[in-house]
Amino acid sequence: MIALYPGSFDPFTYGHLDILERAASLFTKVVVTVAVNTRKASVFTADERVQMIRDCIKDKPWADRVEVNHFTGLLVNHANEVGAHTLIRGVRQVSDFEYEFRMALMNRRLAPNVDTVFLMPREELTFVSATLVKEVAYWGGDLTHFLPESIARKLLDRVRNPDA
Ligand code: PNS
Repeated sequence: MIALYPGSFDPFTYGHLDILERAASLFTKVVVTVAVNTRKASVFTADERVQMIRDCIKDKPWADRVEVNHFTGLLVNHANEVGAHTLIRGVRQVSDFEYEFRMALMNRRLAPNVDTVFLMPREELTFVSATLVKEVAYWGGDLTHFLPESIARKLLDRVRNPDA
């Protein structure tokens, strides 16, 4: 069974990696898909985000069952394109759930053959978000516990030289 794991992934954190690992243990194939959202400013381009995710999972034992791509438009259309009937979303705390619940129901109304499965990350990652990690990076904080090293380096470079 194919699952689609969508997100902004700007950048991909250890929280995302934890959810992906869990999804890969439940589904035979997982497609990680980066949202190209022109309505939301991102630090990294979609292509950069795709490449960073590929780099950080390439040595995982399940890497051959995971594909990484990007999408524009409605997520459910992309789910149907890749043949996925399941969307994966990570929920860290109850406050995430209200928005996720509405989005899952909207997606199911748009595509009744597509359901959402919620997964929880390890407890110690429940406070990690891409937004807070970027805040820590802007102010020069230690990113070791939040991001794979290669991604942390790229984020620090980008916040120091936003136009490079
Ligand atoms: O990591 P994020 O930013 O929480 O991911 C949100 C994302 C990209 C999954 C969501 O905004 C999305 O699916 N956007 C594409 C448009 C769409 O289909 N929205 C849901 C139905 S209105």
